[in-house]
Amino acid sequence: MRKVPTTPIIEYTEDGSTTLFIEDMNEHYHSTKGAITESNHIYRDCAFLHRHSGNTIPLRLLEIGFGTGLNACVTALVADEKHPVHYISLEKYPIETELLSQLNYQQWIDKALFNAIHAAPWEKPIAITPHFTLEKRQTDFLTAPLPQQIDIVYFDAFAPEKQPEMWGCEVFEKLFHAMNPGATLTTYCAKGEIRRMLTSIGLIVERIAGPIGGKREILRAIKP
Ligand SMILES: C[S@@+](CC[C@H](N)C(=O)[O-])C[C@H]1O[C@@H](n2cnc3c(N)ncnc32)[C@H](O)[C@@H]1O
Repeated sequence: MRKVPTTPIIEYTEDGSTTLFIEDMNEHYHSTKGAITESNHIYRDCAFLHRHSGNTIPLRLLEIGFGTGLNACVTALVADEKHPVHYISLEKYPIETELLSQLNYQQWIDKALFNAIHAAPWEKPIAITPHFTLEKRQTDFLTAPLPQQIDIVYFDAFAPEKQPEMWGCEVFEKLFHAMNPGATLTTYCAKGEIRRMLTSIGLIVERIAGPIGGKREILRAIKP
C-alpha cells in the first residue's frame, strides 16, 4: 500500500485529543482547536444525525479522507437500530498501524471499536457492529468512480490552500451526481469561494455555527 508522502507527527489539540501534522504541507488532519470536538460536531451531529430520520433502512455515507478514522469512530458510536449506516470512506494514503496506535482516542472511543475499524480489510464492506457497516477504499478521490446513491457526505479533505485540486467545481459536480435528493454534505471550510461553488452546482448551502463556541462557521449543503 502507498503511504502518505511523509510520515506525519502526532500533536495534541486543544480539547486534549491528538491529531496528525504533515510538516511538508504545514497541514493538520483535524482542527487544532479540538480533533474529537470537530468530528463530533461537523460530521456526526451536523451531517449524520441531522440527515438521519431515524428509520431502520441504513443510509449510505461517503467520507472523503478516512485519515485517522476518527469520523468513522464517532459515527459508529451513535449508529444503532434507528440510525443504521453503510459508511464508505475513500483514502489515498492509509496511515501506518504503528502511528495509529499512538493516537489517544481510547479516552473517548472504545479501544475494541477503534481497533476493529482499523483492522477491517480494505475494498470490502464489513459489519463492524450490527448497525455500522464500513467499506474502506484505498483510492484517489479525484479519479476513482464514486459510489452512488449517497445520503450523507463528510467532505474532510485537506484545506483548499493546501490541496486546491480537491475543491474544484468538477469534483463537486461529480459528488452532486453521486448524491440522492435530500442528501446532506458538511465540511469545515466555510470560505465564500467554496460556498458559491457548491451553490452554483445546485446545492442549497447554509453557514452554520462551528464546533468551538460556534465561532468559526462551517458549511452544510443539501441536494434539493
Ligand atoms: C483532513 S484529513 C482527513 C481526516 C480524517 N477524516 C480523520 O478523521 O482523521 C484529509 C485526508 O484526505 C486524504 N487524501 C488526500 N488526497 C486524497 C485523494 N486524492 N483521494 C483520497 N484521499 C485523499 C489524506 O491522506 C488525509 O487522510
